[in-house]
Amino acid sequence: MAQLKREDWYRIAQKVNWTFSYVSRDELFPKEMTGESKVPFEAWEEWDEPYKMTYREYVETQRDKDGGAYAVKAALSKARLTQKLGHGWNSILKAHYGAIAFGEYGASIAEARMARFAPDSAWRNTALFGSLDEVRHGQIQLYFPHEFVKDDIQYDWAHKAYHTEEWGSIAARALFDDMFLGTNAIDLSLQLTYAFETGFTNLQFLGMAADAMKVGDYNFSSLISSIQTDESRHAQIGDAVMQVLGKYDKEKAQYLVDKMFWRSWRIFGLLTGLSMDYYMPVEQREMSFKEFMQEWIVDQFINNIEAVGLKKPWYWDQFTYELDRLSHALHLGVYFWRPTVWWNPVAGVGVKERQWLATKYPNWEEEYGRYWDVIIDNYQNGRTEKTLPQTLPMVCACDQLPICEPNPKSGKVEPLVTVYKGKKYHFCSEPCQWIFESEPERFAGQKTIVQRFLDGMIQPPTLEGAIAYMGLSDYEMGKDPDNGAWAMEYKNQTKAI
Ligand SMILES: [Fe+2]
Ligand SMILES: [Fe+2]
Repeated sequence: MAQLKREDWYRIAQKVNWTFSYVSRDELFPKEMTGESKVPFEAWEEWDEPYKMTYREYVETQRDKDGGAYAVKAALSKARLTQKLGHGWNSILKAHYGAIAFGEYGASIAEARMARFAPDSAWRNTALFGSLDEVRHGQIQLYFPHEFVKDDIQYDWAHKAYHTEEWGSIAARALFDDMFLGTNAIDLSLQLTYAFETGFTNLQFLGMAADAMKVGDYNFSSLISSIQTDESRHAQIGDAVMQVLGKYDKEKAQYLVDKMFWRSWRIFGLLTGLSMDYYMPVEQREMSFKEFMQEWIVDQFINNIEAVGLKKPWYWDQFTYELDRLSHALHLGVYFWRPTVWWNPVAGVGVKERQWLATKYPNWEEEYGRYWDVIIDNYQNGRTEKTLPQTLPMVCACDQLPICEPNPKSGKVEPLVTVYKGKKYHFCSEPCQWIFESEPERFAGQKTIVQRFLDGMIQPPTLEGAIAYMGLSDYEMGKDPDNGAWAMEYKNQTKAI
């Protein structure tokens, strides 16, 4: 039987917006679910996705992709590759799975919300594929680490992390709730599929796939590449929304981009920053986190937003300042507070690594090397207990991460304070304070781990009590996998470097 060519029927099938007669538009697309903007409702008809795909094509492609990824996994299963790839690489995998797998499941709900409530039919259809993508990403990223659990209980956190009150997990949930679960189709499309996916997840997925190839983890590389191609396809939703919103409501587009670029930056500093600058074996490192950010985020993202008439986020100077510092500040914090994470953070500051850091970040020695010298001195003199924490760090009431990066104006770590309805809130930076103050009702009820401590929710009120509250048993909590042995490399050197 003769079949129509796709281009002859595709648009008729995608664009099925009609005038409703039995219910009002507001009943069909309530603003709580669809969102509000200055875009006239009819103008959403201009929404146009660059990659056209039919359901038949979608299913065929996805079946092939899954087949490929699962076949690689089956072939490599017996090789027990992961265990041979070293502590740093295992830290990358554990942090990635715990932080990402359940977030993907959340993203499937967000995509499903757009599939029902987005104000244009082609957008709804594309989001349906996006929802199926995210279900797949959640499942595949739980399935792959599952086989490692019998050898290493920390891999259980691929599934467990989001069900705990561990601080990194609180930070990830707070971000994703704001970005896509606790919001409407229009806002989430710009926050998730534009700022986060177009802007940032390429960094995580392309970067990690390339790094996995370099260290020889073909299993993870094939998994990640398979996911990344889905992401870049459904991320086009964000770009198509931006084309419309950028035309009719620049102010809203700018606000959402500014807010979510900052929040994404923070969580990527933690996840990708540590992976690229410290956990990745130094012999296989090519780019620093900063270089990768500059190439993949700064150049491309700024070109994209300027093309629709938006400006660089107002805090750009601060962002540039932090490019040299965020990963180092967070790594120092995570290493010191290692019992509070579900992986074993390598220090990543042996002699060779330190030379690499000083080359990539000229201020590193002066600003961070001196703290590591104290840790090295403590290890060398048998004071291991001094390399471990006694208390909890201050945490930002917006991004829920430890307040550890310096203020560009003073060069010092100085929390900013806002008093709202008689309560004090501490922030790591002006952009985080600005996000909170823009919608205080949205954020005021979120308690940081420190606030929970002060409110008596953590018993006994000690560091041990807090670690237990976070769901970390002795077997799961992070330890230095080298037990400080790396610090002895410096023994024969008069000065650390
Ligand atoms: Fe995904
Ligand atoms: Fe996605």
